[in-house]
Amino acid sequence: MFSPLGRGVFWLFFNEIRSLHLAKAMRIAFIGSGGIARTYIKYMKKFEGLEVVAAADPAVASLEAFAADVPGVVTYDDYHKMLKQTKDLDLVCVCSPNGAHADNTLAALRAGVNVVVEKPMAMNAAECQKMIDTAKRARKELIVGFQFRFDPRTEMIRRQVAEGHFGKVLYVRCQALRRRGIPNWGVFGRKDLQGGGPMIDIGVHCLEMAHYAIGSPRPVSATGNCWTYHGNKKSDIASMWPNWDYKTYTVEDLAVGMIRFDSGTMLNIEASFVAHIEKDVWTFQLMGEKGGASWEPTLLFTDHNGYMVNMAPGWIGAGGWDVIWEQKIKHFVEVIREGKPNRAPGEHGLMVQKMLDGVYASAASGKEVRV
Ligand SMILES: NC(=O)c1ccc[n+]([C@@H]2O[C@H](COP(=O)([O-])OP(=O)(O)OC[C@H]3O[C@@H](n4cnc5c(N)ncnc54)[C@H](O)[C@@H]3O)[C@@H](O)[C@H]2O)c1
Repeated sequence: MFSPLGRGVFWLFFNEIRSLHLAKAMRIAFIGSGGIARTYIKYMKKFEGLEVVAAADPAVASLEAFAADVPGVVTYDDYHKMLKQTKDLDLVCVCSPNGAHADNTLAALRAGVNVVVEKPMAMNAAECQKMIDTAKRARKELIVGFQFRFDPRTEMIRRQVAEGHFGKVLYVRCQALRRRGIPNWGVFGRKDLQGGGPMIDIGVHCLEMAHYAIGSPRPVSATGNCWTYHGNKKSDIASMWPNWDYKTYTVEDLAVGMIRFDSGTMLNIEASFVAHIEKDVWTFQLMGEKGGASWEPTLLFTDHNGYMVNMAPGWIGAGGWDVIWEQKIKHFVEVIREGKPNRAPGEHGLMVQKMLDGVYASAASGKEVRV
């Protein structure tokens, strides 16, 4: 189409525009300015060229604490007003309670802004689908705030799966179990505002990383159950976060579920704020035809030269909370600024949500359900 000279001029022009774009600060706003929004700020400060210009939250105290940490930020008690009055936004981070994720995200996308929405993506799969469709129509990125897929343990296992080292993956066991850890802030005990308890709040983390590691197969059915036996009662027993609001506690203490994928793989998930076990567990294990893996402790299992062998990786890169948060921020900056592939797209959030919905629906009906 172009002569060699024309192509050269085009590339010079393209790169000039691109570097101008890269040099321009990314303008970011928050909807919800509580605990997790402050975590974003902590890690965003490690990056050049990110400018947090606005935040919206109905709670004045939360906005004041946020503003003290982010000099110059303009605060609003109404996110519609913020979206209307803040010009040239590149990104909105949705950090409100789960029940507000869909409305907040739809409003930001309709205002023509890319969105990172915290986990879980929404209250149910129907909301997730609407968010995906709206992002497509708006031609904007929709990124789910999953961070455990950026953990080097997840990536190491994902690569082994992708390269076929375990053969077909048959079974995955996920555990997000706290012996005693009911959040004593926010609305984590309110089913109407959160959609559920430990399954949707922390089970979602293990689900997203395990599902990503095995190649994101399509869930087709679920069975599960939920029980509430502790959070809705006053308790004097020592706890990581004492004095939660037991009077408004309407979510489960323990939920378990089994998911069937179109690949035939089965996945078991256990999530609890109050598990009567020796100590907290946060991991997944997988079993394949030729080998297996454990996320924590990080091990690979195989047969080698006539023996069963356990392999511990020597070095898989630095990990930990700081690293995965930095990776989470780096990821969305690269997706939005440089057009790199979105590794936590709405479609992945939707599949995880279908699993959560399936476990809760099965618990309510007492039967296996299609998802
Ligand atoms: N990725 C993670 O590791 C992680 C960790 C904790 C929480 N989260 C997620 O972040 C979200 C918020 O959790 P948190 O711990 O920050 O809770 P929080 O209670 O500390 O903060 C939530 C904030 O949202 C505000 N809010 C309430 N309704 C709103 C609405 N309709 N619109 C805008 N803001 C509203 C509240 O006033 C509050 O300031 C939840 O979805 C939670 O699942 C993610």
